[in-house]
Order: sequence, then C-alpha cells, then structure tokens
Amino acid sequence: MKPQQISTQKFAEHYGYQASQTVFAPGRVNIIGEHTDYNDGFVMPCAINYGMAVSFSKRDDSIWRVYAIDIEQHDEFDLSQPIEPSKHKWANYVRGVVKYIQAKYPEFKQGADLAMASDVPMSSGLSSSAALEISIGKTAQLLGELPLNLTEIALIGQEAENKFVGANCGNMDQLTSALGQKDQLIMIDCRSLAITPTPVPQGYSIAIINSNVKHDLVTGEYNSRRKECEFAAQFFGVKALRDVTPEQFIERAHELQRENQLAYQRAKHVISENHRVLEAVKALKANDMQKLGQLMAESHNSMRDDFEITIPEIDYLVELAQVAISKNGGARMTGGGFGGCIVCLVPNDKVEHLRQIIAENYEKQTGIKETFHLCTACDGVHLV
Ligand code: GLA
Repeated sequence: MKPQQISTQKFAEHYGYQASQTVFAPGRVNIIGEHTDYNDGFVMPCAINYGMAVSFSKRDDSIWRVYAIDIEQHDEFDLSQPIEPSKHKWANYVRGVVKYIQAKYPEFKQGADLAMASDVPMSSGLSSSAALEISIGKTAQLLGELPLNLTEIALIGQEAENKFVGANCGNMDQLTSALGQKDQLIMIDCRSLAITPTPVPQGYSIAIINSNVKHDLVTGEYNSRRKECEFAAQFFGVKALRDVTPEQFIERAHELQRENQLAYQRAKHVISENHRVLEAVKALKANDMQKLGQLMAESHNSMRDDFEITIPEIDYLVELAQVAISKNGGARMTGGGFGGCIVCLVPNDKVEHLRQIIAENYEKQTGIKETFHLCTACDGVHLV
C-alpha cells in the first residue's frame, strides 16, 4: 500500500472520522553535486516516488494531534502556546516547522488532527526528514490558507532542521522535496535558488541501491566538513567556495595545503564538484551519457579521497555498479555520506544485469544484504 493510502485509512481508524485532505512530499536522490549546497554551489537532484503522506482535518481549537503511523507514536501541542522541543526527535521536525511558520505568520493557530506515513528509508541519504518537513509545511499552509510559496516552505523546513532539530543541513533536500518536477533532474543554484530542469535521459533508469549501513557519527562529521569549507572560503577571501574558480584554486592550492591540509582537500572537492555539476548539465543536454558517467565516477572518487565521506561498503557497491553499467551511464554515492545509498543512471536494458551483479556479490563480500529501488523523477509536494 502507498503511504497516502495508509495515512488516509489509519487516520479514519485512529480518529474515528475521515481526513479532509492528504498531502504527499517526496524524498530525493542527488545525481551529482554533493556537499556543495551549503557552499552556495550547484546540485542536480530529483524528487523520487518515495515520500511522506500526511492526512489531516481542521479542529475547532488550536491543538495539533499528530499520529506517526510507522512508529506508532503520538505528539500533541498547542499553537496558542510557545512551541517547545519534544523528547521525540521526529516530533521536533513537525513542531519546528510550525514554530517557524508562526514566526512569519503569528496569527497561524489553526488546530488539526494529522496522521502520517512514509516509505522513505530512514538514515540512508534519501531525505526522509525533508519529506517530513515539507509535508508538514504544506499542510500548515493549507490549514491556515497562508500565502506561502513552495520555496518559502522549503526554507522554513531548512530553518526548522537547523535551529529546532539541530542539524546544520543545506537547502538542497527541502528545495527538491518542494519543487521537484516529474521526469526532470533539477539543477539548483543554491545561492540564487534558480532551478534548471533537464529531462531524465531517454532509455535510462534511476536505480538506488541502499548499502543498509547506517552511521552514528554523521552529524559531527557533517559539521566538521562545513567548518573546513568555511575555513577555505576565508582563506580565499570569499563569501563561499562557490566564488572560487578551479583556476583560482590551483593558483593558491599549495599555500592552503601548507596551512590546513583538510581545508585544502575539502575545497578541492567542492570546487571541482561545482564544476562537474555544470558539466553534467551540458552532457545531459548533448545526450552524452559516457561523459555523464565519467563525471559521476570523478564525483565519487573526490568524495572518497578528498572529502572523505564514503565507507568501504559504499565504494564496493559503486565499483560493482560501474562494472555492470560499463561506459554509458554511471554510479556514485548519493547524500550526506558515511553509509546510505548509491545512485545509478543505467540503460533500461542493463537494469536486471545491475541488480544481479549486486545481488551476487555485495552480501557475499560485506555480510549485509542491499536493497534495490528503481525510481522515477517526480513532482514536489502536492495534494493527493
Ligand atoms: C545532506 C544535507 C544536504 C546536503 C547533502 C550533501 O543530505 O541535508 O543539505 O548537504 O547532505 O550533499
């Protein structure tokens, strides 16, 4: 059953009446452009056909009752009181979004009953949390008939995650969940927030393979990468690494390396990755899938060697996938890193071969069974 069917059905069972509306917000997969968003750079993700569904109805008071179906937990808070953190992490995504909507629209106090269900695997780099934030943002916008556009909903989601949940993420995941487009990869300029859609290449599928390795130290590693990038931006005297061209980087690379080896490596990744995203757009436009595959491979190597966010299981999955896909199309790790998923752009007639090669080798080598998902590029948050 799809999440929207589950949330509708469970809403009725749980509250004893029918939900008036259901919203669906997708997760995302990033094709190329990793750890560039918080450097004001470029990314090229798409929204996927896995996401969070929220069924809801207005109440005639200011209470929100929230039922998280998948984990059988509840939250309740009053919009006419200051919104405080909950002891449940998932509930803080909900409360945080409502809090920052109220910061913009203090008159928003509309109570509601909500039931939510998701099929985005958690902690695997597919943005289950952004799907939650954006589904709640859209729900609140509809409940209060607020004049919020999708970009604003995305930025409120990011603000909630940064300030209320305490994860210092960039803006890619929320923008993609809000503004994804059917059958399109969306290149986002994370500074101007301009979006350039490029069709998913004809005859190709998007495969996501979950290593099923979850990492506990992700937040600390993520924050230290951000600091190292900030150090490098200061070294170059710019607002963000987006403002350093590959040529400018090469000119002062040795100097930076002497001063701070890690900042050098992180900057090398970010600056080259921004360039690869722009090259990837050109390759897609020219239908040059060999070039796109090379760019994905370079991106992976750069994450492995310079940004140091891959793990052996993920490197192995990428190697297997690259062999299976061969020249046209490619594979790389996707998302924040330290586990999670790889993404593949694979010719339709090689999908089964890819699935088989991974099934035959990955578990044998690592002792962990992978999960294989075929995805389609989807629209961002919408009513169902
Ligand atoms: C996580 C963050 C994003 C982005 C990616 C890495 O998904 O939430 O903002 O930084 O990592 O590209």
